[in-house]
Amino acid sequence: MNSNKRPEAMKRITTPALAQTFIDEQVEAVRAQVGNKKVLLALSGGVDSSVVAALLVKAIGDRLFCVHVNHGLLRKGEPEMVIKVFKEELGANLIYVDAVDRFLDKLAGVDDPETKRKIIGKEFIDVFAEEARKLDGVEFLGQGTIYPDITESKGVKAHHNVGGLPEDLQFELVEPVKLLYKDEVRVVGKELGLPDRMVYRQPFPGPGLGVRCTGAITRDRLDALREADAICREEIDKLEEKPWQYFITVPDFKSTGIKYVKGEDGQEEGQRYMGWSAFITSVNTIHQLTAESVQLPWETLCTIRDRITAEVDGINRVLWDFSNKPVATIEFE
Ligand code: XMP
Repeated sequence: MNSNKRPEAMKRITTPALAQTFIDEQVEAVRAQVGNKKVLLALSGGVDSSVVAALLVKAIGDRLFCVHVNHGLLRKGEPEMVIKVFKEELGANLIYVDAVDRFLDKLAGVDDPETKRKIIGKEFIDVFAEEARKLDGVEFLGQGTIYPDITESKGVKAHHNVGGLPEDLQFELVEPVKLLYKDEVRVVGKELGLPDRMVYRQPFPGPGLGVRCTGAITRDRLDALREADAICREEIDKLEEKPWQYFITVPDFKSTGIKYVKGEDGQEEGQRYMGWSAFITSVNTIHQLTAESVQLPWETLCTIRDRITAEVDGINRVLWDFSNKPVATIEFE
């Protein structure tokens, strides 16, 4: 598929049967493009790169090399899910890179949001390039480009864009879902057997939890954020109607709370201490340029509050951010 223009006659992929036809066509097309060569793919665990990885495994098997970089800013359970699905279930060649210390060391003390993003982006390219150089004979780069990436942002994909690779690492692109819209990518992903948790995953910024651990990232606050976020998502996932995006942010400030500890006489006594606050965001948006806060059931809010303050070390306050975009943005940074 060479054209970047979706043909007018192209049917929207809405059913498993249409998805299967698309998969069969793409498997053939990828085999024709790649021959017996190797393909490298940055597998973030997001919908698009996961669907492309599953499609490429089907087409070329162990000539696909997936690189999953754990930068320490992923949500709870994400690296484990990528390993389970791709390595254990699909039998893919998965190179898992634990780069947590490397990223967090580079980010230590950096509080400017744009500098944080730049460090994360640059470090990602460096890690990916290092892995690419270890492999012999790779000539192709798989990418989860989808149609809105082409029509709205000239093909630049923020969260798994490896377009900034150095000169000696220029590959021919393999972009099997580049003419599909997001909903179609999900139907194809389902047909390829990917789990719902992956196929219906909500959008997640490339810099990950880095933009939700505002200011200079510290490991203890990042861990608290990851735990609180997992609780928030688990509780909201129980709702029949879920907001488009929902998550926790833990800003870089502390406020007073009370901790109950046993005194010398064996009696519980309250002690004041400074703890972080967890902010819940829950929004609906159509095109992300605007977003509307979504009201959550009071019981859900209370459960999230009770669980976070009981289960997460260091958080003593839970707040709900019900701002709209504009004037706010969806993410805090
Ligand atoms: P904002 O905060 O700009 O977010 O209202 C709009 C949507 O974009 C996501 N987002 C990002 N995605 N890299 C990304 O890949 C980023 O740096 C980034 N910042 C925000 C955000 O989660 C929301 O869905």
